[in-house]
Order: sequence, then structure tokens, then C-alpha cells
Amino acid sequence: MHAVGIVAAAGSGLRLGAELPKALVTLDGRPLVVWAVESLRAGGVAEVVVAVPAPQRAAFVAVLPADVHVVVGGDTRTASVRAALAAAREHADAVLVHDAARPLTPPAVVARVLDALAAGARAVVPVLPVVDTTVVVDAEGVVTADVPRSPLRRVQTPQGFDRATLVEAYGRAHGAAAEFTDDASVVRAAGIPVHTVAGDERAAKITVAHDLALAELQVAQGVA
Ligand code: CTP
Ligand code: MG
Repeated sequence: MHAVGIVAAAGSGLRLGAELPKALVTLDGRPLVVWAVESLRAGGVAEVVVAVPAPQRAAFVAVLPADVHVVVGGDTRTASVRAALAAAREHADAVLVHDAARPLTPPAVVARVLDALAAGARAVVPVLPVVDTTVVVDAEGVVTADVPRSPLRRVQTPQGFDRATLVEAYGRAHGAAAEFTDDASVVRAAGIPVHTVAGDERAAKITVAHDLALAELQVAQGVA
């Protein structure tokens, strides 16, 4: 199976609040986007396309390995993945879509996603259980219901797809209502079943400054 990796790195990182786009912020001296690319490769992805913000294109090219294909992303994550997908070569039979903001994703997670695709899944996502009690609140913040936790899962990346399936699903998803927070939602909206494999807490997304501090600690302590 020939898998191409797409790394969504075109966000600005408003919640992190750094001077640079989030994917260029460093963890242990290396930009987050470089960690994400290396994790995909170590897990068995043959080639990688990275979607980057237009103004910083040159800065991304300067830090990424020379054989990584860099494309300009869009205003939303969905638009960025769409741009990278258009640049992914047609000979690939699988596509893994990953967030640059998940630098410490263990290669074993990538391998589990690839294995599920090789076993015949058309779409597969890494997931973790929900550990906190989870509730529904009304507009005033008052709890109105408990949510049974056992069937709930938190979805991570990389998310893996049969390439033709993902291209077709993105082809169908258009218009203002067609903004999705992940790629499995795009595929599910097209009626395709999405399978799951075990995720990993280390694949957590860096969103706010606390997350980056925690990741630095993990690298320093060798638990990454
Ligand atoms: N992303 C992207 N293109 C966009 C928006 C987001 O490629 N237009 C990417 C980000 O670079 C990130 C991933 O999607 O790797 C997950 O998004 P998120 O964590 O929300 O990152 P940002 O959008 O950059 O951060 P924020 O929402 O805090 O501004
Ligand atoms: Mg965002």
C-alpha cells in the first residue's frame, strides 16, 4: 500500500498566541510541523504534502525536508486539506491526514491506521475514551443531562482513508455549511462508515500555551 500523508499546517494558532503560525513554533528546538512530518514517516507514510499559510510559505520550505511537497492552504482547515489533497499524487492508494499541531504522535498510531486501511477499512480514525464525567448544560450553564460516557470517544489524527473515497467525499462537500473540524466527518457525511483504532494521549493537540509546556516536559523527561 502506498500512503501519502497530508499535514494541515496552515492555521495561525490564535489560541496559542505565539508570534509565529503555530506549526512553526518550536518544541525542543524543532518546529511542530517537522515533528508531525517525521512521525508520519516513521510510521510508514511514503510521501508527505504540507499545507501552509501563504505569507510564511518560504519559512516553511526552509525548515521542512527537501522532499516534502509544500502547498498553500486555505482559510479553514477543510480548505487547507482540500488544497493538499489536490496536490497528492494519484498513484497513492491511501491518504493519512494529520494535524501539524500533534507533534508527539507515536509512529505506532500511524502504523495502526495504516494496518486498518490495509485490512480493508475505507476510513479509520484513532480514538481515546472520555475519562471525565460528561454533561449537557443549558444557555445559563445549568446541567440538564448526564451523558453516558462509555460510547463516547475523543478523535485524534492521523485519520486514514482510501484515497478515492476521500477525494469523492471532499468533492461532495461544498458550500458554507461544508466546514468540518476533521476529515472523517467529511467522509461520514458522504455515508461511508468510519472505523476506529486506539489513539494515544501523546498524540494530544497543542492548542493553548499549557499544551506546549506539557509537550516540552514530555520530551525533556523522555516520555514522548
Ligand atoms: N489548519 C489549517 N488551515 C487552517 C486552519 C487550521 O491547515 N485554515 C491546521 C492547523 O495548522 C493545525 C490543525 O489544522 O495543525 C488543527 O487546527 P487548530 O489546532 O485549530 O490550529 P489553528 O487553527 O492554527 O489554531 P487556532 O484555532 O487556535 O487559531
Ligand atoms: Mg483552528
